[in-house]
Amino acid sequence: MWGGRFAASPDAAMQAINASIDVDRRLAAEDIAGSRAHAAMLARTGIVSDSDAQAIREGLLTVMSEIAAGTFPFSADLEDIHMNVEARLRDLIGEPAGRLHTARSRNDQVATDFRLWVRGQCDAAQDGLAVLMRALLGQAEAGADWPMPGFTHLQVAQPVTWGHHMLAYVEMFARDRARFADARARLNECPLGAAALAGTSFPIDRAMTAAELGFDRPCANSLDAVSARDFALEFLSTAAICATHLSRLAEEIVIWSSAQFGFVRLSDRWATGSSIMPQKKNPDAAELIRAKTGRIAGALVALLTVMKGLPLTYSKDMQEDKEQVFDAADTLLLALAAMAGMIADLTPDRTALRQAAGAGHATATDLADWLVRRLGLPFREAHHITGRLVAAAEAQGCALADLPDPVLRAAHPGITEEIREVLTVEASVASRQSHGGTAPDQVRAQIARWKEQL
Ligand code: ARG
Repeated sequence: MWGGRFAASPDAAMQAINASIDVDRRLAAEDIAGSRAHAAMLARTGIVSDSDAQAIREGLLTVMSEIAAGTFPFSADLEDIHMNVEARLRDLIGEPAGRLHTARSRNDQVATDFRLWVRGQCDAAQDGLAVLMRALLGQAEAGADWPMPGFTHLQVAQPVTWGHHMLAYVEMFARDRARFADARARLNECPLGAAALAGTSFPIDRAMTAAELGFDRPCANSLDAVSARDFALEFLSTAAICATHLSRLAEEIVIWSSAQFGFVRLSDRWATGSSIMPQKKNPDAAELIRAKTGRIAGALVALLTVMKGLPLTYSKDMQEDKEQVFDAADTLLLALAAMAGMIADLTPDRTALRQAAGAGHATATDLADWLVRRLGLPFREAHHITGRLVAAAEAQGCALADLPDPVLRAAHPGITEEIREVLTVEASVASRQSHGGTAPDQVRAQIARWKEQL
């Protein structure tokens, strides 16, 4: 298609490094939609005849049905999806096919196709996130007031509730979802009509093609239109952040489902066995989600590196954008689906959570807070007194609430029986009524808000 000035055919290795059809055939639907919109515009503006445009638009539908049916003769000789489609169109309709490429270039064509594809993935990711958020919300609702240990440094910190912990992830995934929506809104400008780089001398109507393809407007600068790939980078960075959130949740599931923690039971649907150890039930899906995060973050770094030194406008380097984005998008959608299924089927062990919630003197802060509230001590002094009581409990091998009266009163004469109630995990979580805190009332209020939003 570009061979007019060439006397020799490309070397085999040249062809192998140059052809992208095995990757960019995934853009077929977008490529055909873009070409159909372009053909309609060429007719409306009088650049090609109505009958040629009609033949082109119908021929493209035939091409699309061949691709959908798996009968399309993809050819590496034709490099990429754009030339494969156009060559097949020529086979089907003859001479009018040659008019389709008037007032456009593969540079604006591929930029348009790819924006359309990434736009679809932004929508799919938002849908996948909504399913996951609903699964987390279901868990939060079931265990809104179930105490469990809250950790810092993976050391017991203060009791929290299962519902509160689930909602922490709902917040994260909601931000990911908003980031995909933002990325979508920013990418939704149409490069078509930028042609090779400088625009075109034909009287095209860029607003028409932009509207036809669901874009908000045409890109305002033709050089930027063909050379920008930050929409793909933004998709990848959003995907990488989202994958990182998935990975943290996956890690918690791995820890929680271990025999040592025993906080949750994985459904058989989301675990595997060992070929040698009959007792094993492994959290493979969680582990793989954790691992696949590396692939998605890697795709972001790969494309950042491809783009970082490129002068304006198009360089063939940019052909390497698609493989990374395709793989990252597939990986993210799969990870979202697996996580949503795993969470929906997860069985938290309420008793084990409750037992662990009280271990490790998790309510020591409640004692210190009581000394401040009831006895008016400065917090620092209350902290010190409580610390001495924790040491005493450690020495006696008992819980803070089980320390004998004389020991408590020796630490501070104002301490009364009331603190034994204060030291229960139920009292501890119920007391954390600050906005966004772990008290079941607060958790239920947040659940109600999320249910309305979703
Ligand atoms: N296959 C190419 C890509 O994906 C299409 C654009 C080719 N443009 C060019 N000037 N060779 O980037």
